[in-house]
Amino acid sequence: MRLMHVDASPKRQLSNSKMLSAYFVETLKKRIPGLTVDYLDLSVETPPHVSGDFAKATYTPAAERTDAMKKTLEYSDQLCARVLMSDLLVFAMPMYNFSMPSSFKAFIDNLVRTNLTYNFHEDGTTTGNLTRQKTLFITARGADLRPGLSPWSHMDALTPALKSPFAFLGVENPWFVDAQPLQFSDQVAREEALKRARSELDAVAQEWVASIARLQ
Ligand SMILES: Cc1cc2nc3c(=O)[nH]c(=O)nc-3n(C[C@H](O)[C@H](O)[C@H](O)COP(=O)(O)O)c2cc1C
Repeated sequence: MRLMHVDASPKRQLSNSKMLSAYFVETLKKRIPGLTVDYLDLSVETPPHVSGDFAKATYTPAAERTDAMKKTLEYSDQLCARVLMSDLLVFAMPMYNFSMPSSFKAFIDNLVRTNLTYNFHEDGTTTGNLTRQKTLFITARGADLRPGLSPWSHMDALTPALKSPFAFLGVENPWFVDAQPLQFSDQVAREEALKRARSELDAVAQEWVASIARLQ
């Protein structure tokens, strides 16, 4: 069983999302014998942004790509392979300006690839190829955006921005653990938020472990 663990916070030990994703992955490691973890820190290894060359190469059929085009797509090819060979996906990130950090957007832009992570059919329909991966998003937010708890509750653009591209890739029912409020609140509310997030992560781990055990 292979898990890909991706962090996007540029903070190191002080990062809430990194702390929560490490907690989740450690919990799984204890309960899934032989679990292999492929770790990627997007603040250290930041994916390239989409360039003009990338935009051209990605929509050129594989058989017609020049060597230069192949080189342009190399990072993306390797990233897609890493994700496709994983059984479990854990993506952790802070909320930035109501959406995701730009490093995670660059990660998505490198991951959505025709006839690799999704297929484009002759009738114009598409199907995603990440249908077998269990996928968890852990997000850390400074404010409490749960409905009715903040004047900004309706402005959560992060959840839909994650759901749409991954649904396109075949991830129909991802898990979400949103830790909030972790900054714009008092200490008691922050501690409660972390406790709530850990308890939600325990529940997801329990569900994943039980479902993996049923398959074996
Ligand atoms: C540049 C920046 C933008 C932020 N934007 C938001 C925001 O829109 N909404 C929010 O609730 N918190 C926002 N925050 C707060 C972070 O989401 C919060 O501190 C989170 O816990 C950081 O996660 P991390 O510790 O894993 O980096 C922002 C923080 C930074 C540094």
